[in-house]
Amino acid sequence: MKIVYWSGTGNTEKMATLIAEGISQGGKVAEIINVSGGDENIFNEEDLIILGCSAMGDEVLEEGEFEPFIEQISSKISGKKVALFGSYGWGDGQWMRDWEEKMISYGCQSILDPLIIENEPEGLGEDRCIEFGKKLASI
Ligand SMILES: Cc1cc2nc3c(=O)[nH]c(=O)nc-3n(C[C@H](O)[C@H](O)[C@H](O)COP(=O)(O)O)c2cc1C
Repeated sequence: MKIVYWSGTGNTEKMATLIAEGISQGGKVAEIINVSGGDENIFNEEDLIILGCSAMGDEVLEEGEFEPFIEQISSKISGKKVALFGSYGWGDGQWMRDWEEKMISYGCQSILDPLIIENEPEGLGEDRCIEFGKKLASI
């Protein structure tokens, strides 16, 4: 399984690490890939796409690297399952609702409610990330 993420201050990256831990507890292996090391073919062999990006700008994805990456893969992911996650600060998760809608418009099936965590995942937030990973391992 592949998790591709963008993270400015490490919060979404920590989520990715915890989700990978949950996937591993569920008996599968997850590779965590910073979006800067991704390319448009990265998910070609995968049925399930796992993506993480924090809320940036005004309730949008990070526009320098992550948004262009999503545009690049958009024509290659129709029919695949997608699971989304990310950290946010002061909003109400609008960026994630818009992002999920966008992925569905590309023909993806959103198989889990996206996981959003306020700021750094700690305590219960960490548990939620691990649970998310375990669920992904069972799909
Ligand atoms: C430039 C910038 C824009 C942001 N825009 C939003 C926003 O629109 N909504 C929100 O809830 N949080 C926003 N935040 C807060 C981040 O989403 C939050 O700090 C998050 O934990 C960062 O996660 P990361 O370390 O994975 O990038 C913004 C932060 C920065 C630096």
